[in-house]
Amino acid sequence: MLINKIEDVRTQVNDWKKQGLKVGLVPTMGALHEGHLSLIKKAKETCDKIVVSVFVNPIQFGPSEDFDKYPRTLEADTKLCDSEGVDIVFAPTPKEMYGEGVRLSNDTLTYVCPPFFYVNKLCGKSRVGHFDGVCTVVMKLFNIVQPDYAFFGQKDAQQVIVIKKMVKDLNIPVEVIQCPIVREESGLALSSRNKYLTEQGKIEALVLSKILNNIKSCYNKGITDVSALKETVYSILSDKHELEYIEILNRDTLEEEKKANNDSIALIACRVEGVRLIDNLYLGE
Ligand code: PAF
Repeated sequence: MLINKIEDVRTQVNDWKKQGLKVGLVPTMGALHEGHLSLIKKAKETCDKIVVSVFVNPIQFGPSEDFDKYPRTLEADTKLCDSEGVDIVFAPTPKEMYGEGVRLSNDTLTYVCPPFFYVNKLCGKSRVGHFDGVCTVVMKLFNIVQPDYAFFGQKDAQQVIVIKKMVKDLNIPVEVIQCPIVREESGLALSSRNKYLTEQGKIEALVLSKILNNIKSCYNKGITDVSALKETVYSILSDKHELEYIEILNRDTLEEEKKANNDSIALIACRVEGVRLIDNLYLGE
């Protein structure tokens, strides 16, 4: 069932809650792929009723980012959700979510801003304000849908950590479930932005998973010095790749460590054909 209005989704969810049913929310920006389907499958295992939100959230894109060209495939997304047994596809317009101003600033909208420590690194460093936009929309979706569980992919590792922090700090009654990264057979992590890549670009994009796997195999061989592990990337990169960051941090807190350990996560952001791609890998698994 496709719903565009906040009031309608609330009415339906209230009805389920009265029946004692557990509700799961899978927040997405659409252009659904196997990665999203894995979240939906996990939600179906855990919950009685599933809401998938499809909303390209204007306030999490910077002025020079890809908001306008971000893939919008609502018809195909809705069909896919129907075939997966999703109960509601909630696809509000920006006006329904934010009123008249579409690209609202935090001067004109009450924002949820995660702590600087969590966002002054990795994606938050180049995408200033991005996580304010993410937390604000996720908080709104939590308030609208009032799910018991919400499902997010590990590919956006920083996003999940920031959302878990928000849930804990603001006592939001929802359990956040993180689901593993889904990869193509080649190793490329699935992402809606892969759609921007040419076939050659997809091959070049394998550099992200190659770098992460290389770091992990060096770690498995006993190299734990973070600087030494990070140095290994330069033998793999070519002029086709614009590295934005490679970091090895604590997987739960994003704290820096001198020595990698089984609680470390390696994270990378790199542009290929101008497309910004991210990936990550736990070293201890
Ligand atoms: O990961 C995404 O697709 C988005 O950041 C989210 C969580 C749906 C918020 O807009």
